[in-house]
Amino acid sequence: MPEQLSEEVSAEQSLQETAASAETAVSGASDLDALAELRVKYLGKKGAITAVLRGLGQLPQDARPRLGRLANEVRDRISAQLEEREEFLKRKSRETRLAAETMDITLPGRPVPIGRRHILAQTDRRVKEIFVGLGFEVAVGPEMESDYYNFEALNIPADHPAREMWDSFYLGDGMLLRTHTSPVQIRAMERKSPPLRVVSSGKCFRRDAVDATHSFMFHQLEGFMADRNVTFGDLKGILITFAREMFGKDRKAKFRPSYFPFTEPSAEMEIDCFACSGEGCRICHTGWLEILGCGMIHPRVLGRVGIDSEEYTGFAFGMGIERIAMLRHGIDDIRLFFENDIRFLAQF
Ligand code: FA5
Repeated sequence: MPEQLSEEVSAEQSLQETAASAETAVSGASDLDALAELRVKYLGKKGAITAVLRGLGQLPQDARPRLGRLANEVRDRISAQLEEREEFLKRKSRETRLAAETMDITLPGRPVPIGRRHILAQTDRRVKEIFVGLGFEVAVGPEMESDYYNFEALNIPADHPAREMWDSFYLGDGMLLRTHTSPVQIRAMERKSPPLRVVSSGKCFRRDAVDATHSFMFHQLEGFMADRNVTFGDLKGILITFAREMFGKDRKAKFRPSYFPFTEPSAEMEIDCFACSGEGCRICHTGWLEILGCGMIHPRVLGRVGIDSEEYTGFAFGMGIERIAMLRHGIDDIRLFFENDIRFLAQF
């Protein structure tokens, strides 16, 4: 074999071997780093193919194009194989990552306890909603009151025996923790003249001995209406409507005479017990449940805030929010509201 011919054959052989070894190596490469090394080894400046292309000049004229083409083909094939393998390795690594990140969405979630309003706040809201629906506006008053607003203006002078009904926490300087929400009536009537329909609720404080139905701190909701020709009939109509909305359509209501220094006549409203429907049970004892005190605003109270009692009349009422909540939910001890036992609170 002439020398030139043998060089041509060996160049061709070297190309074929390179192609074969590259194919095996590329298809066996297990990661992108290994693949990068192979690219340098086969296609780089010091690679086998570059060597053949460089040596072309030494080959006979007529062999050059064929070997040149072959070298290019081999280079392109290796390059394509590298690309394909790279694509494959990238896809595989993405799949592995995704598989590792998979979430089991069939696992039951951890329960997140949802907060709720305190049962007294819920009750307060509901009562207000009903009165707002009847055209009343909502007012607020201070928990720390002066003797004047809490008693004097409500026709309870210092030596009045009725003060015993409201045993108070005194703060000094003529101030005390309000014993009822009635002072808000005075404040509202001082601010605006009739026609007025106002409700106001909040904390009250009394030096009462704590038992199942009494707490030293509790909540009241006060309401009053003042206008021309307001009658006891209006008082009954509004309060019976309220009781039906709050406790159900079939509730019966009755009014019993009572006494408050700031209303005349005065009454207490009772509804027939929803638990026993009037038979008498553990909750009501008598078949009837007292829910509020009320009456026609005393002319002297109107006069004190500058409202002409010849022209205007009004009614007022005050109810215990705890009492309403206890009746509505059959709760038999007022202390449960203030213990903050989540097992109790979560029931409402
Ligand atoms: C009053 O406080 C009057 N201001 C109500 C009123 C307003 C009458 C307007 C007329 C016109 P009494 O003291 O009855 O009234 O209290 C009203 C309600 O507050 C009671 O029916 C009761 O539900 C609640 N209450 C009174 N003391 C306590 C207490 N220590 N613990 C829990 N609730 C109480």
